Amino acid sequence: MTSDQHSGGDVRAVQAGDDGRVTIFDTTLRDGEQSPGCSMNQEEKLSVARVLDEMGVDVIEAGFPASSVGDFEAVREIARTCRTARVAGLARARPSDIDRAWEAVQHANRPRIHTFLSTSPLHMQYKLRMEPEQVYENAVEAVTHARKLCDNVEFSPEDGTRTDRDFLCRVVEAAVKAGATTINIPDTVGYTVPAEFFELIQDLRNRVPNMDRATISVHCHNDLGLAVANSLAAVRAGARQVECTINGIGERAGNAALEEIVMALQTRRDVLPFHTGVDSHYITRASRLVSGITGFTVQPNKAIVGKNAFAHESGIHQDGMLKNAQTYEIMTPESVGLTRSTLVMGKHSGKHAFKSKLQELGFELDDKELNDAFKRFKDLADHKKEVFDEDLIALVDDAVLRH
Ligand code: KIV
Ligand code: ZN
Repeated sequence: MTSDQHSGGDVRAVQAGDDGRVTIFDTTLRDGEQSPGCSMNQEEKLSVARVLDEMGVDVIEAGFPASSVGDFEAVREIARTCRTARVAGLARARPSDIDRAWEAVQHANRPRIHTFLSTSPLHMQYKLRMEPEQVYENAVEAVTHARKLCDNVEFSPEDGTRTDRDFLCRVVEAAVKAGATTINIPDTVGYTVPAEFFELIQDLRNRVPNMDRATISVHCHNDLGLAVANSLAAVRAGARQVECTINGIGERAGNAALEEIVMALQTRRDVLPFHTGVDSHYITRASRLVSGITGFTVQPNKAIVGKNAFAHESGIHQDGMLKNAQTYEIMTPESVGLTRSTLVMGKHSGKHAFKSKLQELGFELDDKELNDAFKRFKDLADHKKEVFDEDLIALVDDAVLRH
């Protein structure tokens, strides 16, 4: 069976030379920073940017330079600092914003201006108070202006997934003609679902005449918890840039999580024949850095980076893990930068894991001592959510003394 049949979709090459490489565009420092309570100062943004650069992120959206002097300066410093990543600055579709973004990113090794304008009926009528034709003209002017400054320009029709399809195709075609090198389709309010988004991306590729002159990007929000699934569906349909954030931070329910995109592509190459340039070993480090700086703790059951993502408590699972880790783990903890999985001692733990844990703590008990300690451990675990190493040490000392 071919990978295309496996995934049940269109994974044909987007253009000659397409080898399935997906550009990872990280917007932790722009959209991520826009989450309420997540703002970062220049030093903090720089330390996140350094890790993103080191881990192989392709594009770092460093901020929105026209939004404040502080953000302008942070973007400028990041642009000067990053060695390999392209550095993007966001700009509304107006000349003053675009100029300011260029001023901030121009000294980057590889700069990008990212300009955006809403195209959905709701946004045009209520937010912009503009007619569709004015929006069309404005988009073309913005991209044309940006291209005079920078040879790498991204254009986003904001609220793209709620935009009239014919209008979206017209705007995208005009933006590519005006020089946009990346066309980003934002699911601004996390409204789409994978099958629909797949079809949208496929439709753009089929209907926009010059679509293969630009990279298709997607930018998915997580309001329905579908940001990662939607992004992966879009990649299968031909998108070759995914916008995402560390720990999935971002407006409202957040953005597609970088670690989930990278690990899904890495773990399921059999059905998703794509790859990124990100070194996954940096994932835990980046997650902890962003969480520490923003104060946004990661939920324990969060995929890839949650405290429990590689932790096992039930006796059956722990027994399986001790026999062969693949029984309950689809990726290794080392691949995301952890040293090992953890067997959490609690009321569901079995004797196999208990014995192994005691050996790890340096105890070798005979059968009688072990049975006694295990019984006392179960009694304790019934009253305590988690039994820590110190509890076990006390419990074993007691069991040994009794014999
Ligand atoms: O969600 C969104 O539409 C955005 C755009 C600026 C790309 O963040
Ligand atoms: Zn967004």
